[in-house]
Amino acid sequence: MHIASVGVSKLCFLLSLAFCGLLLVLIPTLQPPPRHGDLPQPRPHAKPARQGKDLANSVHNPGGLVLPVHAGKMPLATGRNGSSVRHGISIETGDTSNGDYGPGRATYAQKSPQGGSLLRGKNGAPPRSGSRDPLELKDIFIAVKTTRKYHKSRLGLLFQTWVSQAKEQTHIFTDSEDKELRMSSGANIINTNCSAAHTRQALCCKMSVEYDKFIESQKKWFCHMDDDNYVILPSLLRLLSSYHHSQDVYLGRPSLDHPIEAAERVKSDGSVSVKFWFATGGAGFCISRGLALKMSPWASLGNFISTAEKIRLPDDCTIGYIIEALLEVSLTHTHLFHSHLENLQKLPAETVLEQVTLSYGGFENRRNVVSVGGTFSLIEDPSRFKTVHCLLYPDTDWCPRVNPRQKN
Ligand SMILES: *[C@@H]1O[C@H](CO)[C@@H](O)[C@H](O)[C@H]1NC(C)=O
Ligand SMILES: *[C@@H]1O[C@H](CO)[C@@H](O)[C@H](O)[C@H]1NC(C)=O
Repeated sequence: MHIASVGVSKLCFLLSLAFCGLLLVLIPTLQPPPRHGDLPQPRPHAKPARQGKDLANSVHNPGGLVLPVHAGKMPLATGRNGSSVRHGISIETGDTSNGDYGPGRATYAQKSPQGGSLLRGKNGAPPRSGSRDPLELKDIFIAVKTTRKYHKSRLGLLFQTWVSQAKEQTHIFTDSEDKELRMSSGANIINTNCSAAHTRQALCCKMSVEYDKFIESQKKWFCHMDDDNYVILPSLLRLLSSYHHSQDVYLGRPSLDHPIEAAERVKSDGSVSVKFWFATGGAGFCISRGLALKMSPWASLGNFISTAEKIRLPDDCTIGYIIEALLEVSLTHTHLFHSHLENLQKLPAETVLEQVTLSYGGFENRRNVVSVGGTFSLIEDPSRFKTVHCLLYPDTDWCPRVNPRQKN
């Protein structure tokens, strides 16, 4: 009995050894195919807007301009079409193929993976490949909101500078007929017939016309600007190129560091409140066509004015309300947009040309302008827009000739 049981144990031992050996041989073939790299992989139905948010934030991060990432609700309206989302494509292979991207390009490409991993631990890849259908300036509808009072003082500077590079796609929304302006500028000027008062109603009236004109235009992107914004067109194109116009994209600078709270009077009777972020209008903001079309029930043909009246908030807040609270799409926070409400002097001089919008203000008391030196003095160019313009487009006829020894 004793001998027999030893024999059985031996047999068991040998059998287990053989089994283990077999397992070792089989394990590699049983494993799933290896993943690409060791990066955390996005879920199959990733949210494009979230990815975009990582990108937009990452662009800022190295400049020390990071804002807390909006970690609230996920955008429900995005990511339905998983097929249009591609992962792991870096910005270098994006729409920059035509090379027309100014000084900020290399920095932008370097910054995104670093910032992305700092913020989220993701690879920060943009949600879009540029190999097909590259975005061009003509795909963007740029609305500039102004009023009669500023036709001479503010618009003149814009026509002389950035608008001259984007005449066809820039539309000036004002509140009075000005034949002289129309003749002298040759620009697209739209008389909204809205009141010239700086009231909520008048501002919402203009936004409503801007929205309708954009929808009519068939362009891919809507960008709203104020008449004290300088738009750095290569940066704008570069930023929008990292998204697709059919995605739900709402890009801009939050004016507060927390979401705004308002009584919900559209979906309910006002007894509950909603929290949402909005992009400050004074810094400019952009909306993809896909998202703009979804806004239609609350924004088109005068509906924007009634929506704003219901929640009793200004035009830019109402945009945020429709997108974040009603459509549940998140604002993609970016600090590349700038309004006169921030301290523009704090913007590092070497990053000025990488921004998307600039502004100026406070001539009366404290001058609030970006710090770019050279070319024109503060007396000749108090807003610094001419200086910025000559750095971007040195061949402009009124820019000082570049010293041939400095060139190349
Ligand atoms: C989804 O994306 C594919 C490829 O980009 C496109 O052909 C299709 O029309 C999209 N469908 C929807 C519903 O957007
Ligand atoms: C403003 O009024 C003029 C004259 O009645 C009209 O031609 C124009 O289309 C109106 N503008 C808008 C945006 O409705």
